[in-house]
Amino acid sequence: MDELNASELGKLDYWENCYDKELNNFHNHGDPGEIWFGDDIVNRIIQWMEMSELVKKDSKLLDIGCGNGMFVVELANEGFTNLHGVDYSEKAVELAKAIANKQNLNIHFSTQNILDGLRDKFDIIHDKGTYDAISLSENALENRNVYINNVYDSLNNNGLFIITSCNWTESELIQQFKMKFESFHTIPTPQFKFGGKVGSVVSSCVFKRK
Ligand SMILES: C[S@@+](CC[C@H](N)C(=O)[O-])C[C@H]1O[C@@H](n2cnc3c(N)ncnc32)[C@H](O)[C@@H]1O
Repeated sequence: MDELNASELGKLDYWENCYDKELNNFHNHGDPGEIWFGDDIVNRIIQWMEMSELVKKDSKLLDIGCGNGMFVVELANEGFTNLHGVDYSEKAVELAKAIANKQNLNIHFSTQNILDGLRDKFDIIHDKGTYDAISLSENALENRNVYINNVYDSLNNNGLFIITSCNWTESELIQQFKMKFESFHTIPTPQFKFGGKVGSVVSSCVFKRK
């Protein structure tokens, strides 16, 4: 499988600058910042979680590369109670904490690099756009493998891994994760039609830890 060309989005500096601006915007205007891939995708993932028998309101859930933390903020507002977010950008974590505090939500955010391994274990791990960013780093192939192993090690038995990507198709994700995860479900995402071909802009897959 061809690797993607490395880009700014694969660097910590880029995200620190980005969240520094978003943090100022939040303090000055109350704007939480970008929802990557849009609200519709978030709603589809949460709807699936609420329907799934494997997901409980008190399942211990981690959002990797949580950015402004809006995914777990939405989950908290839907009644989920055991929510955690990590990001390697300190500014992102500062922003996520500020947003959650303003809404009086009890969510645990901390600065951690998924490539260094995580400090805890979870029932559900969620990623929206973080594996994509890692796929754009220098040494992406090596980093992707470290990422897959670290997610595996941080999931409890039968844990679920939910990933949304704009860089990889559903079949590419299944291929990349198959050593450690079995494909469990694909969350339908909006389709586009171009030149007679139908495709998705993003893929949202649910995997079960093997
Ligand atoms: C495209 S943004 C998505 C943010 C958030 N998940 C969302 O959906 O709004 C990618 C995020 O991954 C974070 N990130 C990139 N590499 C990381 C790593 N190795 N460990 C932890 N976070 C990382 C970035 O700081 C950024 O917040």
